[in-house]
Amino acid sequence: SSDEESGEEYLFKIVIIGDSAVGKSNLLSRYARNEFNMHSKATIGVEFQTQVMEIDNKEVKAQIWDTAGQERFRAVTSAYYRGAVGALIVYDISRRSTFDSIARWLDELKMLAFGFTGTSSPANQFWNHVQLLQSHSDTTVAMMLVGNKCDLENIRAVSVEEGTTLAEAEGLFFMETSALDSTNVKKAFEIVIREIY
Ligand code: GTP
Ligand code: MG
Repeated sequence: SSDEESGEEYLFKIVIIGDSAVGKSNLLSRYARNEFNMHSKATIGVEFQTQVMEIDNKEVKAQIWDTAGQERFRAVTSAYYRGAVGALIVYDISRRSTFDSIARWLDELKMLAFGFTGTSSPANQFWNHVQLLQSHSDTTVAMMLVGNKCDLENIRAVSVEEGTTLAEAEGLFFMETSALDSTNVKKAFEIVIREIY
C-alpha cells in the first residue's frame, strides 16, 4: 500500500477491559515498563500508554487504553471503546465472578467499539459484521480473552478448559497470564498487535 511506500507508521488503539482488580493495570505496566505493583490502586476512569513495536522492520505504535473496572466508571470508560481495533478482555483465574462477567464486557465492547447491536446473538453474526466493516479498510479486529493471575494455581477457580471453550465459542484468542511472574504478558499483547497489523 501507499503507507508502506511512504514509510508511514501505524497507530492502533487497543483497550483493556474487565472487572476491577483482575490485574489490567499491572498487565500493562508489566508489558510497557516491566513493572509490577503488589499494592496498585484502582484505576480512575482511563489511562493510556503508547507502546512502540517493530514488526517486519516497520514501526508499529499501539495506543493501549487501560480502563477502570469499577462499575461507577463504566459510563466514562466505555466512551473510550470507539475506534479500538484490539482488546484484551481480562478475568482473574482465582475469582469466578470475574469470569462470569466476561459476556457482559464482550457485549459492551462489540456494541461500543464496533457498532454491533445484536447483543447475545451467536458469535458468528458479530464476526460477519466485523468482516463487513473490514471490507472498507486495511485493519483487522483482534480480541484476546486473558485469564490473569495464573501464578495463583493453588486457588484456581476457573479451569484452563473453561477459558479455552469460551474463547473458541466467541472467536477470541486465549491466553493465561501472570503480571506477577510475567508469564505470557508480552505474548498476549504482541499476538493482538500482530494480528491487527
Ligand atoms: P481496576 O483498575 O480497579 O479496574 O483494577 P485492575 O484490573 O487494573 O487491577 P490491578 O492491576 O490494579 O491489580 C489488582 C491487584 O491484583 C493488585 O494488588 C495487584 O498487585 C494484583 N495482581 C495483578 N496481577 C496479578 C497477577 O498476575 N498475579 C497476582 N498474584 N496478583 C496480581
Ligand atoms: Mg487498573
